[in-house]
Amino acid sequence: MEDTKLDLRAKEILRTNDRGGYTVPTAGLYPYQWNWDSAFVALGFAAFDIDRAWTEVESLLASQWPDGMVPHIIFQRIDDSYFPGPDQWGTTTSPPTSGITQPPVAATIVRRLHDLEPAKGRRRAEAALVALDRWHEWFATARDPAGRGLVAIIHPWESGRDNLPDWDRPLSFVDTSKVGAYQRRDTQHVAADQRPHQHEYDRYLALVAFGRDNRWDPAAIAAGSPFWVADVGVNAILLRAERDLAALAGALGDSGIADRATRRAERLEDGLASLWSDAAGGYVSLDLRREEHATTLSAGAFLPFYAGGVPADRAERLIPTLRHWLDAVRYGVPSFDPTDPQFDPIRYWRGPIWAVVNWMIAEGLANAGHADLADRIRTDTRALIRRSGFYESFSPVDGRGCGGKDFSWTAAIWLAMTAPAPVAAVA
Ligand code: GLC
Repeated sequence: MEDTKLDLRAKEILRTNDRGGYTVPTAGLYPYQWNWDSAFVALGFAAFDIDRAWTEVESLLASQWPDGMVPHIIFQRIDDSYFPGPDQWGTTTSPPTSGITQPPVAATIVRRLHDLEPAKGRRRAEAALVALDRWHEWFATARDPAGRGLVAIIHPWESGRDNLPDWDRPLSFVDTSKVGAYQRRDTQHVAADQRPHQHEYDRYLALVAFGRDNRWDPAAIAAGSPFWVADVGVNAILLRAERDLAALAGALGDSGIADRATRRAERLEDGLASLWSDAAGGYVSLDLRREEHATTLSAGAFLPFYAGGVPADRAERLIPTLRHWLDAVRYGVPSFDPTDPQFDPIRYWRGPIWAVVNWMIAEGLANAGHADLADRIRTDTRALIRRSGFYESFSPVDGRGCGGKDFSWTAAIWLAMTAPAPVAAVA
């Protein structure tokens, strides 16, 4: 298909997945509103309907919990094609939501929406700013009670990179003896060899039960969650989001929020630096219960570029590694080290390429002065979509589409990668 037809198709996918003020990631497999999907969807809508882009962000932030958390799934209209549903999460909001969060890309996107049309977007940006500040403050307190500059995730799903090999060891300590019989729905939509294994799913459900039994109380969860891990992706994305929030608050004249975001960003900078592992040769996740760094690099190793401020000596190790990865496969960026035996080119987050991750890595590399690599990643992303369509993810080995099709955030990234960038680079 020609690019102009793909532009039209991408817009059509967003319109078709629009359920009225919020957009589902894809029909069937993911029939609700997902947190970071909505943020990226807003970026896609911004290329042709800025009003609809704002609505997407607003519908997400409308489900913010009283304590500031913005949930990972909002069960807007009950649909039995997805499991685990509201009953398993046991939350009490209306509409019901899950009890966990997802990578906080929203502030970065909101800044971008504002900068596209500052005068027109001012009122909406001001409202979003307050909600985003509360969410980021929740991260700083609920997920970093010790103040070490690293926020924890309590479930692999909070990383958005659900079955990354990084979670295997921390998950191995999760007790599944009380998980009864249940019926998965994901493997009814997608081939089982592209989805997580059963033993991983059991652990996902045990962690949901832990949160539900503790009424999603942040203090109880911080004290006892069997899974308490600093994901390099979430921490890098949050740091970038804090910087964008500070810049946006500055532009809108809110010095209180600008100062708070700047202080939180300073703390996160120290935390992110501590995720560097010489042994692994890059930034990795850290199991905070055991003080163990992950031993193999994932695509998350390159997200500190997106956060901004990677020191030169570390960049000098990361850039050749990334080039080596890109040379080892046909398309980049694989979600996990393609030279490692655990790499699997079609199984979910253990190898496949995700357009949204490519977008963040490319943004970061361009800001850090590596325009050639950023271009290479954007070119690969577009080539994958041209070859296979708007799939959920793609095999780095042969480019075939994996997971769900007609996927909203893949369509959004197609549009975002051609639309002019309105935003100033991060420091
Ligand atoms: C999967 C992905 C997650 C995404 C969701 C909806 O669970 O791992 O990152 O938000 O699907 O697309």
